[in-house]
Amino acid sequence: MLILGIESSCDDCAAALVRDGETILSQAIHSQFDIHEPFGGVVPELASRNHLEKIVPVVETAMGDADVGWSDLDGVAATYGPGLVGSLLVGLSAAKAIAFSLGIPFQGVNHLEGHLTAIFLEDRTVSFPFLGLIVSGGHTSLYRVEGFGSYQLLGQTRDDAAGEAFDKVAKLLGLGYPGGIVIDRLSRQGDPQAFSFPRAMTSPKTLDFSFSGLKTSVRYFVQKHEPAFIQAHMADLVASFQEAVVDSLIIKLTQAVTSSQLRRIVVSGGVAANSRLRSRLGEVAETEGLDVHFPSPQLCTDNAAMVAAVGYRHLCMGISSPLSLNAVANLLL
Ligand code: KG4
Ligand code: ZN
Repeated sequence: MLILGIESSCDDCAAALVRDGETILSQAIHSQFDIHEPFGGVVPELASRNHLEKIVPVVETAMGDADVGWSDLDGVAATYGPGLVGSLLVGLSAAKAIAFSLGIPFQGVNHLEGHLTAIFLEDRTVSFPFLGLIVSGGHTSLYRVEGFGSYQLLGQTRDDAAGEAFDKVAKLLGLGYPGGIVIDRLSRQGDPQAFSFPRAMTSPKTLDFSFSGLKTSVRYFVQKHEPAFIQAHMADLVASFQEAVVDSLIIKLTQAVTSSQLRRIVVSGGVAANSRLRSRLGEVAETEGLDVHFPSPQLCTDNAAMVAAVGYRHLCMGISSPLSLNAVANLLL
């Protein structure tokens, strides 16, 4: 079964062709980096206008790269939430139009389900159940995953998402956008123990996260020191901030391992591309005997292959969406 997946929930316009939910034939992506970079964050109106311009060429590129024609498609899947409504509507409408005109099923996909199960596009050996952590620009949520379609929310952020903290701290320090990648890179030259920042919500009584206090403490740190000092210690500063985020995530994951008795962990979402999180969690896995999985960085960040894969599984179960399906900004999983 050949599925065209479309993802346009935020600032990436992406299309992918996936066969039988596991073989990626092509992935085309247009990043809006240049458009939002001057603003230090995503501007929703600019995002949706750019999706409108790019959606057709991106889909055509994905089809061409996979060397398939319209008549080869068995279904079309698109993200319908959560995300920016103006952006979601572009990919969703394109998917509906393609499916309607070809007379094939259309499937709306929850973006979070895409992230949570993206690992199966690369590693089919991961078995259920597992602890699934989504760390992205919009979410920091921990689930108990019993199987495809069976997701129990164990904890989530009470304020900022981890990726949001990266982006806001980078903006505060004038490092550009998107902050996670910049901070990840710069931190490699810094000392993660140079400065001490708080690790919030460390009590095992909750599996919720919090990152806004950490962001505020970086702001106070910047206000307390001379600009020359901040510039001279930038790598140490961001490495120390990043270490606090990584510690906070690892603390909650180890608490969740204890309370859930699950020893398998799958981490996904844009922040899962973070090199320090990947190496630190890898070390913890080794010493604690945990089975930890990360998709490759390209499948951690927003992509359409994960959307096609979820769409495939739903269509296999005989589930498809009505063409009246609307975009849902705060869709839950
Ligand atoms: O999953 P994603 O592409 O989009 C959302 O669904 O939000 O995640 C984007 C987020 C941004 O906040 C970005 O700064 C962060 O992921 N990110 C990273 C890295 N790459 C992307 N954060 C830390 N380290 C990275 N290497
Ligand atoms: Zn995402």
